[in-house]
Amino acid sequence: MDFKRKIVLITGAAGGIGKAAARAFHEQGASLVLVDIHQDALEALRAELGLSADRAVLVAGDVGQEDTVRRYVQATLDTFGRIDVFFNNAGIEGQPGSLVDTDAATLDAILHVNVKGAFFGIKHVLAVMLAQRGGAIVNTSSMAGLIGFPSLGVYTASKHAVIGLTRVAAQEAAHAGVRVNAVCPGPVNTRMMRGIEAGLSEDTEAVRAQFAALVGLKRYAEPEEVAEIVLFLASDKASYVTGSIYTVDGGMTGM
Ligand SMILES: NC(=O)c1ccc[n+]([C@@H]2O[C@H](COP(=O)([O-])OP(=O)(O)OC[C@H]3O[C@@H](n4cnc5c(N)ncnc54)[C@H](O)[C@@H]3O)[C@@H](O)[C@H]2O)c1
Repeated sequence: MDFKRKIVLITGAAGGIGKAAARAFHEQGASLVLVDIHQDALEALRAELGLSADRAVLVAGDVGQEDTVRRYVQATLDTFGRIDVFFNNAGIEGQPGSLVDTDAATLDAILHVNVKGAFFGIKHVLAVMLAQRGGAIVNTSSMAGLIGFPSLGVYTASKHAVIGLTRVAAQEAAHAGVRVNAVCPGPVNTRMMRGIEAGLSEDTEAVRAQFAALVGLKRYAEPEEVAEIVLFLASDKASYVTGSIYTVDGGMTGM
């Protein structure tokens, strides 16, 4: 997959999946706009990937705030003049717990990032892609966007919402040749799963083993395995793929 001269915008870029995608797009020649709430983590990512200033722009901010989204879209246009690929990926897991134990603060926090952040990203990037009559968006949902996941109720609802937004955006964008798809990873070896494991039990090893046992392939994914699908969906090789929901879950939901 060739991303030379392509402009790729990634949110949640400093996290496990975002970083793996940033590395893969960079290796395929893309110029990057990397967005995350942690400026220091973005700086570390730039150093780790050896990104020069002309190949990467960093934007720190909270994607649940519409002003941040306006800012990262404008920074992309000011520097590169267009957006070819948008990996709309930032997300949080929140505090695990049953629905009856979930408080309003947890509800607000998860919906703020996972739904408002995803929505604002689609809204503002799609406007650019419709005007330029081309582009590809990949939204990060989850297997929790496809099935009910006990103790992760609000997270599950938020990832179902991402699938709804993906389907509507794909229909509203197709006339301009803009494609919109979603990836649904199962458990991936990143900070997020460490957070979920610790939120469910003090015996994190046991939780990890239970999650792995639910997966057909009996292991977590590595973030690079998710990035491979993201690059495919973002590439011209997926030119006839839009409105699709791609599971990358080791058989967790399909077997
Ligand atoms: N890890 C998994 O098992 C898994 C499974 C399915 C889906 N996902 C989804 O994949 C995406 C990436 O998760 P990950 O596993 O890389 O987790 P991660 O925690 O390693 O990375 C998430 C990144 O998003 C950033 N972020 C959080 N809130 C933000 C905000 N308000 N504004 C901007 N950036 C913010 C974090 O700083 C972090 O760098 C998320 O949407 C997550 O829900 C993860």
